[in-house]
Amino acid sequence: MSFLQEIERRRTFGIISHPDAGKTTLTEKLLLFGGAIQEAGAVKSNKIKKGATSDFMEIERQRGISVATSVLAFEYDGIKINILDTPGHKDFAEDTFRTLTAVDSVIVVIDVAKGVEEQTEKLVEVCRMRNIPMIVFINKLDREGKDAFDLLDEVEQKLGLKVVPLSCPIGMGYDFKGIYNLWEQNINLFSGDSRKNIEDTIKVSDLDSKELENLVGLTAAKQLREEIELIQGIYPAFDKNAYLQGELQPVFFGSALNNFGVRELLDCFVQIAPQPRPKQSEERLVLPKEEKFTGFVFKIHANMDPNHRDRLAFVKIVSGTFERNKPYLHVRNGKKLKFSSPNAFFAEKKQIVDISFPGDIVGLHDTGNFKIGDTLTEGEHINYKGIPSFSPEHFRYINNADPLKSKQLYKGIDQLMDEGVAQLFTLELNGRKIIGTVGALQYEVIQYRLEHEYGAKCTYENLNVHKACWVEPQEKNNEEFKEFLRVKQRFLAKDKQDQLVFLADSHFTLQMTVQKYPSISFHLTSEYH
Ligand code: G4P
Repeated sequence: MSFLQEIERRRTFGIISHPDAGKTTLTEKLLLFGGAIQEAGAVKSNKIKKGATSDFMEIERQRGISVATSVLAFEYDGIKINILDTPGHKDFAEDTFRTLTAVDSVIVVIDVAKGVEEQTEKLVEVCRMRNIPMIVFINKLDREGKDAFDLLDEVEQKLGLKVVPLSCPIGMGYDFKGIYNLWEQNINLFSGDSRKNIEDTIKVSDLDSKELENLVGLTAAKQLREEIELIQGIYPAFDKNAYLQGELQPVFFGSALNNFGVRELLDCFVQIAPQPRPKQSEERLVLPKEEKFTGFVFKIHANMDPNHRDRLAFVKIVSGTFERNKPYLHVRNGKKLKFSSPNAFFAEKKQIVDISFPGDIVGLHDTGNFKIGDTLTEGEHINYKGIPSFSPEHFRYINNADPLKSKQLYKGIDQLMDEGVAQLFTLELNGRKIIGTVGALQYEVIQYRLEHEYGAKCTYENLNVHKACWVEPQEKNNEEFKEFLRVKQRFLAKDKQDQLVFLADSHFTLQMTVQKYPSISFHLTSEYH
């Protein structure tokens, strides 16, 4: 197969949802279709059980699972599909945001009864900002839920999407009869004994035919005809280009648990979802078909075995081919690095590969060279952008609880921050270290990992900070900026990249400061250039 064919047959995407909408179940069903797993239950849920915040065994178990399920690759219809796992737990939202920089499209799963939920709103907003093509899957149709049209309205309003239903449910919950697939113009019947039978699809080319009534009954047939007419009247026709530009989102209905509507989703996905897309670097736009390899690190995972302190850096290949044992330039530190055992991921296994193509993810063993956002190339000095840090929600001082182990503590903190577990700020005034996180759970993870992986002990001290804002003065020498530095001295810190950050103790302070210093910009993400 030629290089171009290899690119054309790749689809790299993520499934996003609010916890419990059915992301794990859908992933598993997709893998079953791809023959990558043989039975349901093989994909372990990567979610932190409710109330398990202090259970460290649970955290460790989760870390194990999340390595295994970070990338799930399989083949379907000659197409190589890479699913990138995105943690649903809100304390790990930053992980998900970073993973979204490595996907070429997403599937959004929504629970038919719960409708659009908070996490879905946040994640979809990120995808919308990046014009990532999205397909919506409305799940759990075997249960009573909201009316299909109301739900489509809700998706448009709350998520700011422009939807095109490509399937239409026939009944719901107890009366759920099946799904009419507008894309393939057929009906997938849902009946007692065919619940597990994925082949049970009936071609219905004429909705006015008697055959439809025989299949679903007169009332349901009438309702379906009306609804299809309504859909065709209200919604625009599906336009693949508009979908690829992120301007229009097809919607499918189904039940992941019952394997219903999943094949239809997958069949449409492989036809319309984008192949690896070009990516913007700070210097230029890079096309996947370029001969020379480039890629970037979007996730780092520490080894769980304390005897092997190496880490696995997940690299998305943007252009060219990545080859084993070939030297590549690590642009940030200017070093050439060779990788003797790059891992590729197949369903829940990983194995060493000699060559990988754009769209693929390789896992590289790393002894501390990488941090999130790093670029690798064949020699060109380019830097991929787009992995910002957001202002944390929680802030605490971190103190060394074992003076003999301060070296270990600082090394540990340094490496955990490179992995993206949390953010470190150093106060300008006295050099004290502050850890900022998205969720409270991370403090326990950090404390536990510092102790078990680095032999260091820490304690935390509360600190009243509302938001961290990256500070950008119009001019460094003007009087206004000098005054700001003087007056706010106690609230200024540097992040790990040595960028200046203002730690505002309340929403009010932040507003007042913004008003008082109009020539200074205050940003809630680190990527404002
Ligand atoms: P998540 O990864 O998005 O968090 O969700 P997950 O797939 O784990 O699904 C959450 C719950 O919803 C699970 O039940 C799962 O079985 C159920 N579910 C998923 N799809 C459907 C569907 O189409 N219909 C119905 N009725 N339920 C569905 P659970 O009781 O929390 O877990 P489990 O004990 O069944 O694993």
